[in-house]
Amino acid sequence: MDLVTALARARSPERPGPDTPAGPAVRPWPGPPRRLPEAGPGELDLWSLLRLSLAARDSAGRLRPTPSAGALHPVDAQLVVGTGCPLPPGRYGYDPLRHRVHRLGPEPDDALPGATVELSVTPQRTVSHYGHRAWPLMLLDTGHAAAALWLAARALGARPPTLRLDGIAEDPLAALHVAPPEGARRAAGAPTPRELLTRRSARPPLRHTPPRDALRAVLATAAEASAGELAWCAAVGEPQPHIVELAPDGTLRRLAVGEARPTLAAWAAGQAWIADTGAVLLGHGCPADAGAPQIRRAHLRAGFAVGLAHVAACRRGLAGRPIGSWQQADLGASLGASPGRDWVVHGLALGTTHSEEGTS
Ligand SMILES: Cc1cc2nc3c(=O)[nH]c(=O)nc-3n(C[C@H](O)[C@H](O)[C@H](O)COP(=O)(O)O)c2cc1C
Repeated sequence: MDLVTALARARSPERPGPDTPAGPAVRPWPGPPRRLPEAGPGELDLWSLLRLSLAARDSAGRLRPTPSAGALHPVDAQLVVGTGCPLPPGRYGYDPLRHRVHRLGPEPDDALPGATVELSVTPQRTVSHYGHRAWPLMLLDTGHAAAALWLAARALGARPPTLRLDGIAEDPLAALHVAPPEGARRAAGAPTPRELLTRRSARPPLRHTPPRDALRAVLATAAEASAGELAWCAAVGEPQPHIVELAPDGTLRRLAVGEARPTLAAWAAGQAWIADTGAVLLGHGCPADAGAPQIRRAHLRAGFAVGLAHVAACRRGLAGRPIGSWQQADLGASLGASPGRDWVVHGLALGTTHSEEGTS
């Protein structure tokens, strides 16, 4: 698969064809399923780590702590288990529908204490609905899954996991190492398990501009999580439409004046509700001449950052919904800079009203 061509096509106005079968929601891991045993003292609680991040709570597999474009959940997880875990060391495939693991083989010689969760994708699931628009979405989804694991580790009091979102490898696309706890207690500011299990994408419309402080905090969360890979701004509707960004001193400053939301709605596969959204957080960058590793890195980081920003927004009482499919969204050019350099990679719709939440 040529990712450079795939991204250029996904960004074009071409529409996907009719839906095709999504296939099974879980990889056919070999061997018998095994329970995740309860963690003993000093062991990494794999049961809770996966329950708070990747496990499905409905038999169709749609209701999960991590969001996914079209709720198609293309991300598969393998665990490289080292010492300090309730499972014998080895490599395991994770079944998110049954919350069970399948032993695949021995651990590699360089397995670290604790567990490394490796993330890859089954393209058929997302391609089934999004066709040629699937690849950027699957990379974003992988970033969201990494964010869900990262947040779950923090909620359990583990040290901040080590992330690999460098975009170098095609498989696994991302990896996250969680060390065994050292007297684990939830860190100050870490989310609670309940917050992770109750996060949902709010059903549109998401109306009214978030308070400035909340918007600033959400922008700061996204900017920090994207580790310089993308720039961030937010298109705001009321009282006067404009675009804001974070200034170096952490305050909000105006990037442009004018109404951007109808254009964003047109760029995001014509989703009209975006034009009435209180604010739209935008991660942008990834120029047209980016090679495959940069494309992977930018999208993985964007998904990770929006995953963290979404939970940060929910914790401030805001409604949020990720927006992942962008066509011809050359933000830089529309703000007067050179074309092809600064594309919208991912978005998060934000509002203060909560309509009935759920999937769509
Ligand atoms: C990468 C990504 C892109 C998404 N893009 C859109 C979008 O363009 N429009 C939309 O309404 N929802 C979008 N969503 C939200 C999903 O539809 C939602 O996560 C899914 O239905 C599951 O619902 P939940 O987040 O409440 O668990 C996106 C989610 C992700 C992770």
